[in-house]
Amino acid sequence: MRRTMHVGVVGLGHRGPSMTNLLSSLDGVRVDMVCDLYEDRVSYMAKWLKDNRGYEPVATTNYDDLVNNKELEAIFIFSSWEAHIPQAVAAMKAGKWVAMEVGGAYSVKQCWDLVRTSEETGMPVAMLENCCYGKRELMVANMAAKGALGKIVHCEGGYRHYLCDEIADGEKIRHYRLRNYLNRNCHNYPTHDFGPIAKILGINRGNRPVSLVSVASGAFGMKEYIKEQRPEYTHLQDAEFAQGDVVTTIIKCAHGETVTLTLDTTLPRFYSRDFAVQGTRGMYEENSDSIYLEGRDLPHGTEINRHCGNAKDFEEEFLSPKWRPENADKVKGGHGGMDGLCLDAFLDKLAAGDKDLDIDVYDAAVWMAITALSEQSLAAGGVPVAFPDFTNGAWITREPRHCDDFS
Ligand SMILES: NC(=O)c1ccc[n+]([C@@H]2O[C@H](COP(=O)([O-])OP(=O)(O)OC[C@H]3O[C@@H](n4cnc5c(N)ncnc54)[C@H](O)[C@@H]3O)[C@@H](O)[C@H]2O)c1
Repeated sequence: MRRTMHVGVVGLGHRGPSMTNLLSSLDGVRVDMVCDLYEDRVSYMAKWLKDNRGYEPVATTNYDDLVNNKELEAIFIFSSWEAHIPQAVAAMKAGKWVAMEVGGAYSVKQCWDLVRTSEETGMPVAMLENCCYGKRELMVANMAAKGALGKIVHCEGGYRHYLCDEIADGEKIRHYRLRNYLNRNCHNYPTHDFGPIAKILGINRGNRPVSLVSVASGAFGMKEYIKEQRPEYTHLQDAEFAQGDVVTTIIKCAHGETVTLTLDTTLPRFYSRDFAVQGTRGMYEENSDSIYLEGRDLPHGTEINRHCGNAKDFEEEFLSPKWRPENADKVKGGHGGMDGLCLDAFLDKLAAGDKDLDIDVYDAAVWMAITALSEQSLAAGGVPVAFPDFTNGAWITREPRHCDDFS
């Protein structure tokens, strides 16, 4: 049983209501205040909480009301990308814990603002990167932590999600992606792919990214989609989209590792996060859900791939504790239960007053900086850019920290 925690939520578009539903169902949580710029979204959520949780939160369209509410100890940010860092900074300055949805930064300075505000106020920021709690992501992190894959040399990840409808309908559904895709060219959503990889590579804890380079294809998908599927949007028929269809980013890390990230959201395709981890003793690949382990003859291996098997065959040995049957009650909410694991991890820390978070402000700064740095690299024609060290050297001695206990 956790103690009662009084929290507020901001951002009640598409993600916010489902997260508020889940959050308010979790042990110890009381959502005392809800906020969005749109009155209808705020009143919907307030009524939903009254009808389903039996209490009515204060509803506001002014974020300052949350920040100034002394009863709230934490703020959950489910708002649009542009609002994340300014809202997190304001919350920390008011002495609140912050749990922030995923997204990228608009400048490297913003990432420094996040880090410095957290350091100056002593208030923690968690990024709610649910994919770090995924079944396979945690299993592979466990394998890597136990040395089964040897020295990790190369990782791949992607956000490959066909989103043309959500982007095109941006004005109708009051969504932020349309304005971003019209105006920016970058890896705009780097944390689902880089987050789990960063945990495996020990980023900010013994390792760090030192440089990044991005290359983008042209922007063709949205234009064709709007012409063919949304002729009624006359003002968008000749719109030029800044966002390239496929952005490939390569990150080089301090100990020689490389990471390839792919943003791919405006061409017809199936969903994939393209998660793959390769070391000197073996590898995992999400798209085939396969594992290759040097020196092991695996039951379903073929002649050419005799050390290769389905990842399911390794669950007994490497499944992370959070995903074992005895902990199944925690695997709940959206995205196959990753959302519940992610929220619970933060709430356990908040309840205990333990600011050593699984995903902390340095992680958030590095992961979000990929967006701003990829924008710089692309603007300069695909040149390498140096990665700031947001820990100011502390990465060398900080202890490893995973999103589960693999001991
Ligand atoms: N982790 C995941 O799997 C996952 C899935 C979906 C979305 N998300 C993230 O959730 C966030 C929200 O996504 P969405 O699809 O719900 O977007 P959305 O545009 O539908 O909703 C965002 C809401 O934030 C509100 N908002 C923006 N600025 C505000 C401000 N200054 N004050 C108060 N409210 C403000 C908007 O009015 C809007 O209602 C994004 O960061 C997105 O990346 C994460």
